[in-house]
Amino acid sequence: MDIFEFQARDLFAAHEVPVLKGIVASTPDSAREAAAEIGGVTVIKAQVKVGGRGKAGGVRVVSTPEEAYAAASEILGMSIKGHVVDQVMVAQGAQIAEEYYFSILLDRANRSYLAMCSVEGGMDIELLAKENPAALAKVEVDPLVGIDEAKAREIVQAAGFEPETAEKVIPVLMQVYKVYYEEEATLVEVNPLVLTTAGEIVALDGKITLDENADFRHENRAALAESAGGLDLLELKAKRNDLNYVKLDGSVGVIGNGAGLVMSTLDIVAEAGKKHGGQKPANFLDIGGGASAESMAAGLDVILGDAQVRSIFVNVFGGITACDVVARGIVGALETLGEHATKPLVVRLDGNNVEEGLRILAEYDHPLVTLVDGMDAAADKATELAAQRFATADN
Ligand SMILES: Nc1ncnc2c1ncn2[C@@H]1O[C@H](COP(=O)(O)OP(=O)(O)OP(=O)(O)O)[C@@H](O)[C@H]1O
Ligand SMILES: [Mg+2]
Repeated sequence: MDIFEFQARDLFAAHEVPVLKGIVASTPDSAREAAAEIGGVTVIKAQVKVGGRGKAGGVRVVSTPEEAYAAASEILGMSIKGHVVDQVMVAQGAQIAEEYYFSILLDRANRSYLAMCSVEGGMDIELLAKENPAALAKVEVDPLVGIDEAKAREIVQAAGFEPETAEKVIPVLMQVYKVYYEEEATLVEVNPLVLTTAGEIVALDGKITLDENADFRHENRAALAESAGGLDLLELKAKRNDLNYVKLDGSVGVIGNGAGLVMSTLDIVAEAGKKHGGQKPANFLDIGGGASAESMAAGLDVILGDAQVRSIFVNVFGGITACDVVARGIVGALETLGEHATKPLVVRLDGNNVEEGLRILAEYDHPLVTLVDGMDAAADKATELAAQRFATADN
């Protein structure tokens, strides 16, 4: 999970990485108030989870609350690489003497961590990495040791810091490592890490990717995800129900059990859709091995909430959870959803106890449910129904 700069700033502050004041604002009025509260020069910064905000005009230095208001009016609503800005951070202005770069990340290929550091930080780091790779020091960090003082010293030496600055940067790198390690991130990037004219080292911009596999160990994760906004409402709803859901662009909702089955269902729907006006899958949704009535209901509820969905393909292969249990799950889900179930459902069941599963659904005989044998035929039916609904709904 990527988090916003203001959230990264808060995590930095919590781990004693030096940062400046920052206040989040979602209206020009509150940006003006924030600038007045911070006082002096402030920087209005778009909060979007993409790089290159500065170059896109999403970072503006201002010197009065009125200017903060004006800058926030321009930045809010702006689209940066397809991300609409709905929040800005009003940050205390720094007097910058020099800009550096520092990051630590998970190096999967080497089963290790990698620290990268440069005395030439700032907005053109990607260019630097490409055109002058020698200026970007790369130092392996042993995960069992981390960045202790010796490692931090090695990093600043490799990057070529002046000795006096190096002594100030070393403890900051150790604190940044604490953020990486204690928050269980897979990436922490500080760009720029600056030396101020007053001679202090400050993290001016932070980017953090948290390892979602560690969510259960961190109480702050749910709150971070909520205010991280980047999640679409449906994704958030799915997450709350422990469903593995990814929104896609098509019209055929897909529910299955097991990631592999769902992946192949997406392919098969896209293929079948070619014959029906180019219908495509609307989502990936794996309700997991359990496939209980609750998870089926939650899954259907999420998919029904997607306005683009015209039909739903339920593709379940009964294993440890037999088809009759899944069928009862579907019946239970339809009962729970009642009149909220509004879109045709094509169900394909196979595997353990399939006869009983089909019997249950046939007996229930819900007007929205069509039972189809075989994945290809079911995908064909689901895409056909989606195409029909396009024809009737859109005119
Ligand atoms: N609080 C601040 N005070 C003074 N200058 C700042 C401040 N924050 C940012 N800047 C200046 O603006 C530049 C760009 O800011 P920042 O690094 O936050 O955005 P960015 O690099 O464009 O975004 P991204 O890192 O997402 O690509 C910095 O390199 C720095 O020169
Ligand atoms: Mg930056």
